[in-house]
Amino acid sequence: MDGTAFVAELEAFQAERLAPITAAGELSLANDAGDPEALLKVALANEVSVSELAALWIATTKELDVKLALAKQAGDEARHFETVALRLAKLGFDAAAFSPPPDNALFAYLKTLPSTVERVAAGLFTLEAIAYGVNERFMALCAARGDHETVRIYREYIQPDEQAHQRLGGRLLAKYATTPELQAVARTTVTKVLEIAGAARAQAAARLGTACVPGC
Ligand SMILES: [Fe+2]
Ligand SMILES: [Fe+2]
Repeated sequence: MDGTAFVAELEAFQAERLAPITAAGELSLANDAGDPEALLKVALANEVSVSELAALWIATTKELDVKLALAKQAGDEARHFETVALRLAKLGFDAAAFSPPPDNALFAYLKTLPSTVERVAAGLFTLEAIAYGVNERFMALCAARGDHETVRIYREYIQPDEQAHQRLGGRLLAKYATTPELQAVARTTVTKVLEIAGAARAQAAARLGTACVPGC
């Protein structure tokens, strides 16, 4: 299968596996639970973790277009961190007092990925698809509570970047996952990321009282 056809198929597979994760957020909306400040702090942690992950991969990824995509992503996620931190400051929280938590199982796994196809499949292509989907539910929760400013910053600044990251991931994967072996590796990686992310998000949902937890 050529790279483009493969990515179209993988995207459909990804959407199917992502559905239960976003559906959990949809169900949670009815409960209207979860502390808004705690949820924004999860967003801070995710943004800095993804920025760090992308930065970590830059030096050891030899394909120039992927290297630059990671560099751009690292910068974008750092800017998202600052955007969310500003919003938290308006709500009375001092983001300077924030220290990122240790890596959860998802980031610990992601950091072990050695190859370009695995990194693109896991990071830009899947993590960003998850982020876009779960952020929509987080925004719906904020909207239901009248927090239209948080919705606005996600709608205007954060979500367009997350979607662009995911699409860039798709284009890079179509370019590099061109053999049956590499396509099998990409598919296994996408499956694994969605599995680990699903479990990590279920844990976070239990701790925070809502599945409308933002991504990165
Ligand atoms: Fe992103
Ligand atoms: Fe982000």
